[in-house]
Amino acid sequence: MPDLLTLPPSVIAIDGPAASGKSTVGENLAGRLGFLYFDTGAMYRAVTHAALTRGTPIDDAAAMAVLANALDIDILPATVPDGRQYTVVVDGDDVTWAMRSAEVDAHVSAVSAIAPVREAMVRQQRRVADKGRVVMVGRDIGTVVFPEAPLKVYLDASPEERARRRYRELLDRRQPADYEAILENVRLRDAVDSEREASPLRAAPDAVPINTEGLSVEEVVAVIVQLAGQRLGLALQPE
Ligand code: CDP
Repeated sequence: MPDLLTLPPSVIAIDGPAASGKSTVGENLAGRLGFLYFDTGAMYRAVTHAALTRGTPIDDAAAMAVLANALDIDILPATVPDGRQYTVVVDGDDVTWAMRSAEVDAHVSAVSAIAPVREAMVRQQRRVADKGRVVMVGRDIGTVVFPEAPLKVYLDASPEERARRRYRELLDRRQPADYEAILENVRLRDAVDSEREASPLRAAPDAVPINTEGLSVEEVVAVIVQLAGQRLGLALQPE
């Protein structure tokens, strides 16, 4: 594999609504290309989890900005083989699973709508790309974080299909799961994420839209690998 540090930094931006497959596709794609995988949703979840556990009022934008700037959020390679994609450590605590709770799901969109919280997160996200080639997933990567990314993809599927995927994910992890509640949360987050003033969820005009309904992860990854070969000039080995 080429030495990533000697290559010019390059970003593949993957955006899309809640549970549209960004994380699974992003991780597979990064593995296939030898890129770093970085999930920006983890940062907003980490801030939300910290606010809930420390009692910071989420409707107090100034207090939330102070919290977001003070937190030491580390996203590391998985430290425990329990199905996690990565380990998230906030001020020394492993919050990887705790920040996936229904309570965080219920509040994360409100936290992500706070402009100074976003500014603090985006600053850190831009620094990640200094380390080399990265597949970065989120809501505003192609529009705000890396508008110059040579390849932008926007993944989508119906709310019902996305809720089904999240429901199966929870069952696979032996977590309690209620399909109707998940569907409601997916719809609510989509609405808040798309309607907020600060960096709303939307496809960049030059993003390639992919409707993942009925497609397997491998099929979606194959489409993006081909695009990456063209746009980033990568010489790719066949599967
Ligand atoms: O994986 P899932 O689609 O459930 O969500 P996520 O990617 O973990 O993101 C959780 C929440 O963080 C989203 O609903 C957004 O409110 C927010 N987010 C954001 O505003 N901007 C990003 N770049 C990534 C996530």
